[in-house]
Amino acid sequence: MLERVAEDAENVFDEFRYEYLKAQVMNIRTKLMEKVSNFFSHTVFKYKMSEKINNINEELRAINQLAKDLGLQSLMVPSRNIVPIREIDSVVVASDVVGRDKDIAEIKEKILNMRKEVVLCTIPIVGMGGLGKTTMAKRIFSDKHIKQQFEKRVWLCLPEMSESKSFLEQILESLTERKVEVQRRDLIVKKLQDELEGKKYLLVLDDMWRVDSTSWHEFVDTLKGINTSRGNCILVTTRMKQVASIVAEDLHMLRRLARDHCWSIFKQRAFVGGRFRRRRKY
Ligand SMILES: Nc1ncnc2c1ncn2[C@@H]1O[C@H](COP(=O)(O)OP(=O)(O)OP(=O)(O)O)[C@@H](O)[C@H]1O
Ligand SMILES: [Mg+2]
Repeated sequence: MLERVAEDAENVFDEFRYEYLKAQVMNIRTKLMEKVSNFFSHTVFKYKMSEKINNINEELRAINQLAKDLGLQSLMVPSRNIVPIREIDSVVVASDVVGRDKDIAEIKEKILNMRKEVVLCTIPIVGMGGLGKTTMAKRIFSDKHIKQQFEKRVWLCLPEMSESKSFLEQILESLTERKVEVQRRDLIVKKLQDELEGKKYLLVLDDMWRVDSTSWHEFVDTLKGINTSRGNCILVTTRMKQVASIVAEDLHMLRRLARDHCWSIFKQRAFVGGRFRRRRKY
């Protein structure tokens, strides 16, 4: 129920974003008649959206009430920045990942069997917070077939790309395990070329929140120039469909886990050894 309401709220945001962009485009050439018709369509839009927001608020209130009735306590969580920095490493305990075999196999298949003519492909894994995007990326990153195929693997957790140089710098730092001393982009690129030339690489960009389209394309073009051999890959995890649509044409949408799998994760986390004893009835 909460997931559906969250999706509805996200759709409302998308509609506002779309309407804003449309208004920007229309403003460029607006005649009087168009102004009048825009006024009416804008009023209808406002009415429609206010109704949707009211419905969402109603449903959230009902969920809150339900949570209270169930005795769930709300914890005071410190407010987060819009772009949180929550660095997660690539280490994974394989046996702890539940119910994602099909998703993992699909993405692995894409990565391992990508079209031979592609120099660098990007695969975004998209889904709401906590669905297991990072968990899956970790599994793929440490998979033995992936390790065999990719001589170089880099895991980065950088939430925002507003310029591409710092990303290139971070990749270089990861590969050399040394602080990059040079500042000039061409020197960084040259060093990166020394590291990556002729070697197949997999780059994971975990938890991306924002990306500037121009910077992204600049970044990818540089990587393609550095290493022209086929079959390199970037795996991106993100909550934002908008990020996914900038970095790739195709995306892997992560769906929620089956109820049984959720239950087994819950047991794993809540009870030692994942086992719990039913209360005896007296
Ligand atoms: N399939 C799974 N099996 C076991 N544990 C899981 C699974 N999916 C997620 N988890 C657990 O749930 C928590 C959240 O998962 P994860 O960090 O991968 O989510 P996320 O989609 O990357 O979230 P965010 O958008 O906040 O980055 C982690 O503690 C992870 O271990
Ligand atoms: Mg994550």
